[in-house]
Amino acid sequence: MSNPGPTLASEYASTSPLQVRIDTHARYSEHPDDPVASVLDALELVGGEDVADIGCGDGRFLAHLAQAGHRGRLVGVDNSPAMVTTTAIVPGVDAVLAEATTLPFVDDEFDRTTARHMLYHVPDPARALREFARITRPGGRVTVTVNHHATAACTRELVTDCARPYGLRPVTHMTNGMDSTTLPDLMHATIGAARIQVFDNALVFHSAPPLIRFAEALFSFCGIDTHSPHRADILDAVATEIRDWFDSHPGSAWRDLKGYIVATTIIE
Ligand SMILES: C[S@@+](CC[C@H](N)C(=O)[O-])C[C@H]1O[C@@H](n2cnc3c(N)ncnc32)[C@H](O)[C@@H]1O
Repeated sequence: MSNPGPTLASEYASTSPLQVRIDTHARYSEHPDDPVASVLDALELVGGEDVADIGCGDGRFLAHLAQAGHRGRLVGVDNSPAMVTTTAIVPGVDAVLAEATTLPFVDDEFDRTTARHMLYHVPDPARALREFARITRPGGRVTVTVNHHATAACTRELVTDCARPYGLRPVTHMTNGMDSTTLPDLMHATIGAARIQVFDNALVFHSAPPLIRFAEALFSFCGIDTHSPHRADILDAVATEIRDWFDSHPGSAWRDLKGYIVATTIIE
């Protein structure tokens, strides 16, 4: 049987690549970057609110709230069984396997709904936004984060160049074009005008190993599946390119622009 190539299901079948990306952003950002704090700030939590985190990943956002003593209900939703299993282990957090566009909750069930770095994966983002608003009570908040369009473009281009000789191309079916330029208008059109906070930054690497790890965590988006027979060769080529870059730029850092917005609508 031919290899179907990377899919969202294969990318999120394990928590590892996502965790590498999150840890890389935490450790190698040019300016301190705490997306959890940015979203908490936008949600304006007092402590007793019921919070839904859609596309919750490994549950670390809700884990942070639970550890901080948040008293309201904390519910993580994801359509990846691996992510739900990981989130379900977090004390004080409920984990639900569901699609962002068909949430198994009644109207107005939550005080706050957040969807962090996931809306660009949903085939019908407008429908997902309406679902977020439906489950959020009037006066509550929906807070969504998405990346700038060209986030980590240099590293993606390096990986893509190494995959091309094997006939592999970046996939288009894993993302939908939802980014910091398109989200504000879509929120305005579907659930109401959003307050936008912009976070511009860059990833900066002073040595090869962490950049190689980060580059590998982008493989799916560049068309390289976990089970691709060429994966090891492409990883070798990526590592060689990165080491050569540092050898030929002594004392320089690899700098890759990135950023995201936090968009918040108060539900009427
Ligand atoms: C880039 S990760 C972000 C995870 C987490 N929100 C964070 O910021 O760390 C995207 C997450 O959205 C989930 N996801 C993608 N499409 C989804 C959908 N249609 N419904 C629910 N979850 C989805 C993925 O399984 C993955 O856990």
